[in-house]
Amino acid sequence: MTKRVLTGITTTGTPHLGNYVGAIRPAVAASRLAGVESFFFLADYHALIKCDEPRRIERSRLEIAATWLACGLDPERVTFYRQSDIPEVPELTWLLTCVTPKGLMNRAHAYKAATDVNEAAGEDIDAGVTMGLFSYPILMAADILMFNAHEVPVGRDQVQHIEMARDIAQRFNHLFGQGREHFVLPEAVVDEQVATLPGLDGRKMSKSYDNTIPLFEGGAKGLQAALARVVTDSKLPGEPKDPDSAHLVTLYEAFADADERAAFRADLRAGLGWGEAKQRVGERIERTLAPMRERYTDLMAHPARIEETLLEGVRKARAIAGPFLAQLREAVGLRRMGAAQAAEPAATEKVRSAAPVFKQYREGDGRFYFKLVGADGRLLLQSEGFDQGRDAGQWVARLKREGAAALAGLPAQRGQGVGEAELVEALALLVQQA
Ligand code: TRP
Repeated sequence: MTKRVLTGITTTGTPHLGNYVGAIRPAVAASRLAGVESFFFLADYHALIKCDEPRRIERSRLEIAATWLACGLDPERVTFYRQSDIPEVPELTWLLTCVTPKGLMNRAHAYKAATDVNEAAGEDIDAGVTMGLFSYPILMAADILMFNAHEVPVGRDQVQHIEMARDIAQRFNHLFGQGREHFVLPEAVVDEQVATLPGLDGRKMSKSYDNTIPLFEGGAKGLQAALARVVTDSKLPGEPKDPDSAHLVTLYEAFADADERAAFRADLRAGLGWGEAKQRVGERIERTLAPMRERYTDLMAHPARIEETLLEGVRKARAIAGPFLAQLREAVGLRRMGAAQAAEPAATEKVRSAAPVFKQYREGDGRFYFKLVGADGRLLLQSEGFDQGRDAGQWVARLKREGAAALAGLPAQRGQGVGEAELVEALALLVQQA
């Protein structure tokens, strides 16, 4: 199998220059390398977690699709699709949700950041947290595992999510693999070479700092106007400037070749004024952007073409996702009735199910119960209701420790048709196991 590389693009906001230099340009370049099979998708289900304005969701999806196509993503070469066009993705999300420890999600950065803010403000820690935000990493794991991606190029902030996808994949493989690895364990790839572009104020260009320069919106004029707001020192024309301490230079260098860079630096040292320097930066960037902007404008004027491209992409994607999900459904036991039952349970399944298990639960009456269920699913012992969950828990602990000796005084009945010997034996098995 060729190496599969997969990238998701959350469809919120309008792309800016930092997105182009830090994500779009390197990803498009990588997608043209030989020997890789690339998957690019619009993570619009993820967008719903952050945004509840349908118009903005719609607009951003369109702009981001047009941007990637205009920047040279070749839909013939890569599989380019919308996450929300693949019903197999939410279905896989559920299969994965059922094997994901809640504690793992508690540790996710995005969720922890939200609870930390709440805690500091003296609020309930989960105030304003949706289940979408909480389960975000599981949806992301489904995106990746659905296509068995080997590599996932991401920014630093996403590395934890890829690690979680690995954990979840491993757990699923272990539980349902029966000697077969359903999922490839994905690796995060963080490109240290890729420049992070400074924004107007010199901090990393980011929507959250409100310091961005738009990529296409506003045209060449808008670009020049934004550059005029880039912060510089107050040296006058004629005074020598230090190229190493000017983020304007970093902006220029993200687009210029070696000769252009050297010339620009020399001119600044020789006293080039900031105003003129900004003019030059704008012209250089514009030379790269102009042909892409033209394609972008054309695409934005013909959304039906984008739609068609995406539908073609999802056709390719579902040709993989459909059969794979069928395999996974089979693995967890969602099978057609009437087909032959799986012949021999695997060794692990036998071992796991040989001993009876306790189940503790709360009923509609508000009281706490437990029961002991045999390997074959038969009810062996049923407790009465306790006012305190702790009391039920203590009985269960004693039964596990002492076995039948703990039956004296226990407010519980044997299940129908269960003899005392059978119960004693089942408890003995539990004690042995402990
Ligand atoms: N969470 C990613 C981000 O905000 C976007 C994303 C969603 C993604 N699903 C993915 C990235 C799968 C890589 C793989 O950048």
